[in-house]
Amino acid sequence: MLEQLKDLHAQALEELSKVDNPQELEAWRIRYLGKKSSLIRILRSVGSLPLDERQSIGAKANEVKRALESSLEEKGRSLQEALLTSHRESQRLDVTLPGRPLPIGRLHPTTQTLNEICDVFKNMGFQVIEGPDVEWDYYNFEALNIPQHHPARDMFATLWIDAGMGGKARLLRTHTSPMQIRLMEKERPPIRAIVPGRVYRYEATDATHESMFYQVEGLAVDKNITMADLKGTLFEFCRCIFGEDRKVRFRCDYFPFVEPGVEVAIECSACAGAGCRLCGYSGWIEILGAGMVHPDVLARVDIDPRIYSGFAFGMGVERIPMLRYGIDDIRLFYSNDLRFLRQF
Ligand code: PHE
Repeated sequence: MLEQLKDLHAQALEELSKVDNPQELEAWRIRYLGKKSSLIRILRSVGSLPLDERQSIGAKANEVKRALESSLEEKGRSLQEALLTSHRESQRLDVTLPGRPLPIGRLHPTTQTLNEICDVFKNMGFQVIEGPDVEWDYYNFEALNIPQHHPARDMFATLWIDAGMGGKARLLRTHTSPMQIRLMEKERPPIRAIVPGRVYRYEATDATHESMFYQVEGLAVDKNITMADLKGTLFEFCRCIFGEDRKVRFRCDYFPFVEPGVEVAIECSACAGAGCRLCGYSGWIEILGAGMVHPDVLARVDIDPRIYSGFAFGMGVERIPMLRYGIDDIRLFYSNDLRFLRQF
């Protein structure tokens, strides 16, 4: 029986060396160490052996069992190791591979234009500030000489938020001019500021109208500010944005919060002034309204119009890239068509 145990041990080790996956290892365990294996059967029968054999056979069988158990454990560990290594190999990162380029976005044409406009005015000493899109009737209309029922309200198709009494109603600002009032309430002259921002109109959209677009408001208040300052500033602005040679036109216009009021137009780029669809066959494209701040507006914010004067202007932002690039539909700006946006 000792011989048998020795052979058993040798055979088991021989087979174990060929095992190379966990399933085979489990089969091997059942074959050599399972309840029905010859080794376990021998161990169970030790008690019925004659006394002299009992000790030596028992000791040998236990020794073989322990040896097989530790071989099993070791094999298990080395299989695990091998598995891990091969897993690591197959998952290895090649850090020398070049990265995949990420698509990089770009600034929206409106943002690019706003940045340019702000730069021009910053160079002339204006500060840049922003204001709320949701505004009181008071700032959007009343403080700008447009009381309830004033016909000028028809110039601005308004999106109302609620129906408060008088100046207390809330709306989406129809222009950036309410910031003139907010600025003058907070600061004393000299004031020189521009206000870029979104404005809203309750209007059917078409090629030249959107219900949301951008304006840049400008305001300068100090002693001795005259119409000449207004013209000089706006001519300089047009020169910077449209170039030296483009003609600029000033004409009288009416806005309740300025006196006198003007409108500024640029010679149409598409037809060089000859008249075309883009300029409505007039040869000119209006880009801004402006004027000298009305004395009543100054007085309302406690700035004495006998001492101070000022000019203000408000321009449409999308008009500028439309003029420059011959874009004939303002709706393209906010329809998020990448084929359009990628061109800028
Ligand atoms: N707020 C006017 C508009 O939206 C433009 C304007 C601004 C006119 C400042 C005069 C002075 O049409």
